[in-house]
Amino acid sequence: MKVALLSEYRKFQWIDREIAEPGSGEVQIRVSFASICGTDMHIFNGDFHPRTPVPFIPGHEVAGIVERVGPDITGFSPGDKVAVDPLIWCGECPACKANHYPACNSLKLIGIDVDGGFSEYINIDQKMLYKAPAKVPVEHLALTEIYGIGFHACNRAGVIPGDSLAIWGAGRVGQVILQAARTITDAPIFMVDIVEKRLQIATGAYKNIIPLNVLKEDPIETIWKHTAGKGTDIAFEAVGHPLFPDKTVHPVRGAIQSIKGGGRVCVLGLADDPAPIVFKELIWKEAMIIASRVSHGEYPTVIDKLDKGALKPEALISGIMPAHQIQEAFEKVEQDPANYLKILLQFKD
Ligand SMILES: NC(=O)c1ccc[n+]([C@@H]2O[C@H](COP(=O)([O-])OP(=O)(O)OC[C@H]3O[C@@H](n4cnc5c(N)ncnc54)[C@H](O)[C@@H]3O)[C@@H](O)[C@H]2O)c1
Ligand SMILES: [Zn+2]
Ligand SMILES: [Zn+2]
Repeated sequence: MKVALLSEYRKFQWIDREIAEPGSGEVQIRVSFASICGTDMHIFNGDFHPRTPVPFIPGHEVAGIVERVGPDITGFSPGDKVAVDPLIWCGECPACKANHYPACNSLKLIGIDVDGGFSEYINIDQKMLYKAPAKVPVEHLALTEIYGIGFHACNRAGVIPGDSLAIWGAGRVGQVILQAARTITDAPIFMVDIVEKRLQIATGAYKNIIPLNVLKEDPIETIWKHTAGKGTDIAFEAVGHPLFPDKTVHPVRGAIQSIKGGGRVCVLGLADDPAPIVFKELIWKEAMIIASRVSHGEYPTVIDKLDKGALKPEALISGIMPAHQIQEAFEKVEQDPANYLKILLQFKD
């Protein structure tokens, strides 16, 4: 088989590898599509060193077809269409024992901590596989992982019908929060970003979206105007590393300023720098900050929503490229982020 090996940082090689036999409890997947994620861009650059040393095979947003099954497998058969959940939790730490897997002390992901799915075949523990109905396009199934992040964030924040939202960051994570939220609430959703094209993805896909470009207007003023001075029920922060920090309000602070009294802020951005929070702004509202990491049990919901046509995967997919052009695909995403939200790599049909 062929694999896309990150042989050194910033350099992929499309090379031959032996296909390993699926072990006990494992299923062999013929990878159809794998999606490139923001984390993959960091791995590519070496930002995740030493967590992700080279040579390495990334890829944690993966879908494909069952090729064959290892010993003792009963729930999967060749030909099944499956999405891969990349999470490996230890099952032993206090968080795992409390059934709080995203907080596992030693949470690992395939494609980040161990070789992943940028590969024509991969053997995966059956616990990490979710079957999809035949009519769900397998390219859309490759977005299950990132959609899971959106649905998990909505679950963590407790989004209910009628909730108005402000989503800070209209990138990959912000867009999946939006799509997940739109399966729950029709109320106004403010999308906040600095890149018009990212805002347009949201307004092009849904009604009742108010785009806010923080470089062009004061987002808080607009949110207050549109909500008759109340603020939104919930705000999400999905920026991470804000650009133009001198010209824009920090997204975590902006999210706190967006919400109504008694509202909730859900943070997802993985910044290394401290965020300037004025806690008084939170305390006056007696508001809550909630963190959301990866997903936990949302795969069946995502697959069901894809099956029912309740999500808009076409709005996320900026292009599909053959997997052997992986180097070019990564360079495109890096050089032109406004036009390349998500590229899917096509491995096998
Ligand atoms: N918690 C989780 O489970 C989880 C999962 C995946 C990614 N993440 C993190 O979420 C963050 C977003 O990831 P992504 O893949 O969507 O990245 P992305 O680059 O696609 O999106 C970030 C968006 O923020 C916008 N932005 C930049 N500066 C801004 C500013 N000053 N104000 C408003 N918007 C601004 C960018 O234009 C971009 O559209 C990252 O920190 C990532 O590491 C968290
Ligand atoms: Zn990802
Ligand atoms: Zn654990």
